[in-house]
Amino acid sequence: MSIKHDVIVLGSGIAGLRAAIEAARNPDLDVAIFSKVQLMRSHSVCAEGGTAAVMQPDEGDSLELHAWDTVRGADFLCDQDVVMRFVEEAPKEILLLEHWGIPWSRRPDGRIAQRPFGGHTYNRAVFAADKTGFFEMQTLYDTLQKYSNVTRYDECYVASVLIKDNVFRGITVWSLADGDFFLVQGKALIIASGGACRMFAFTTYSLTATGDGIAMAYRAGLPVKDVEFVQFHPTGLVPSGILITEAARGEGGYLLNNENSRFMEKYASAKMELAPRDIIARAEMTEIEEGRGFTGPDGLDYVHVDLRHLGPARIYERLPLIREVAMRFNFIDPVEEPIPVRPAAHYFMGGVHADIDGATPVEGIWVAGEVACLSLHGANRLGSNSTAECLVWGRIAGQQAAGRALKQGAFPTLPEEAALKEEELRVFGRFGADATESAFAVRRELQKVMDAEVAVYRTGPGLETALKKVKELKQAVPAIRVKDRGRVYNTDLLSALEIENLLDLAEAVVAGALARTESRGAHARRDFPQRDDVNWLKHTLAHYTPTGPRIEYIPVKVTAWEPIERKY
Ligand code: FUM
Repeated sequence: MSIKHDVIVLGSGIAGLRAAIEAARNPDLDVAIFSKVQLMRSHSVCAEGGTAAVMQPDEGDSLELHAWDTVRGADFLCDQDVVMRFVEEAPKEILLLEHWGIPWSRRPDGRIAQRPFGGHTYNRAVFAADKTGFFEMQTLYDTLQKYSNVTRYDECYVASVLIKDNVFRGITVWSLADGDFFLVQGKALIIASGGACRMFAFTTYSLTATGDGIAMAYRAGLPVKDVEFVQFHPTGLVPSGILITEAARGEGGYLLNNENSRFMEKYASAKMELAPRDIIARAEMTEIEEGRGFTGPDGLDYVHVDLRHLGPARIYERLPLIREVAMRFNFIDPVEEPIPVRPAAHYFMGGVHADIDGATPVEGIWVAGEVACLSLHGANRLGSNSTAECLVWGRIAGQQAAGRALKQGAFPTLPEEAALKEEELRVFGRFGADATESAFAVRRELQKVMDAEVAVYRTGPGLETALKKVKELKQAVPAIRVKDRGRVYNTDLLSALEIENLLDLAEAVVAGALARTESRGAHARRDFPQRDDVNWLKHTLAHYTPTGPRIEYIPVKVTAWEPIERKY
């Protein structure tokens, strides 16, 4: 006997909640949300600085400009039809959240305020102080309460997706709270469970964001796209990695080296601290490597972001969260002292390959948010485009999945019972007595090599080293020891499953980066420093095989703007 839901949403961040609301607007549908964490603990609550949308066309901004900024920021690897749809839809989502009660920050005349963000030509980031993600989550959560046709499964780890004849059938689930392992049948699935930057040690991510949904889809046969493009946010707090929002620079903060110089003058003299993230991350690493950084703990040398000249009133009003973080974690009050920062792994530009509707190549499966690669962000995402993407494609995927579920009468037949047993064995079979490796040691080793060789700057030999290491660590997976033999809140076992997910994805990241012999956006190869549009203006698709990814390439959709040199 299995549980049945018409539409299954995996992940309860901004994209997942937005998708669930949209599907639940159809009272005839039975919708379920599965999340590894309690709903309001999803990583989306950590989003800080803003959500991009054109809200004031009368003041000079336009959809075309937002699109152009996004395409140029992406180093031309995005699909331009996707970008146009994005910019058209984003303002509608801002107003919808407004109607649902979000406390957007305001201008003195009452209009929704917007702040500058990197790579954008206009002040385009709509915000709620520096807690934008938290308030968006809260608003979506409140709105969800209106729908009695939604069932929540908090603290449930989705172990696998069941696909037969290229049609979605269901998922297998381990309930962390009671230890049950069960099957859920569905007509449509939306995967919205976030990215995989926890494969790096120095990251802005929550500990829980381990790419489970992407890895599950990848192993089930869905290709992942452009995963070699990992964004490093210029201002990760040293040494914790906690995000110091780009809004700190949007509000006027400076980046300073150990000579007290605003070094961005040398790298992007027009945009300075508001150049796109890939450019600032490289500038910071260059300053640090050339001896103009400050010495930090464990090799985490850093530069400063200085807010002192903004004055206390502006900091209290616009940046209260990062002030609190700096005070609690570093005993620094940004009103009086600069904050130590360096580039931190922040965002997966790649993800599960999907079309402009978020539809994957498997019938009945959609993706939304950071899980997805619709080719919106290309080689480098602009700050504040991500929460907007979650809202836009949460809505689109929710609508599409609901449409399929409404059309389809009966639930698709499930694969044989053996599939459930096999998956249960994969999850709980790790209690073997002869196992020797520790999941935590394997994770440390993975993060060490990823931080060293696959970060802001990359080289062929470094990537070879990383690939060898990842393959070695994958060999160790079957021997991972799970000391705790219980099935309830077994975090030891959960960590073992998460590391397997991170390793499969890390292999695809490194293989894609090694193959791509050019520099584009966030992928900066020291041995191939130029962008190469003749050979590399194409998307990488990686298909899972037990011996490593099989890579192929597909074209980029250029509809309006031919690639030109990026200058800021
Ligand atoms: O810096 C930030 O607030 C991050 C925003 C984003 O990644 O879009």
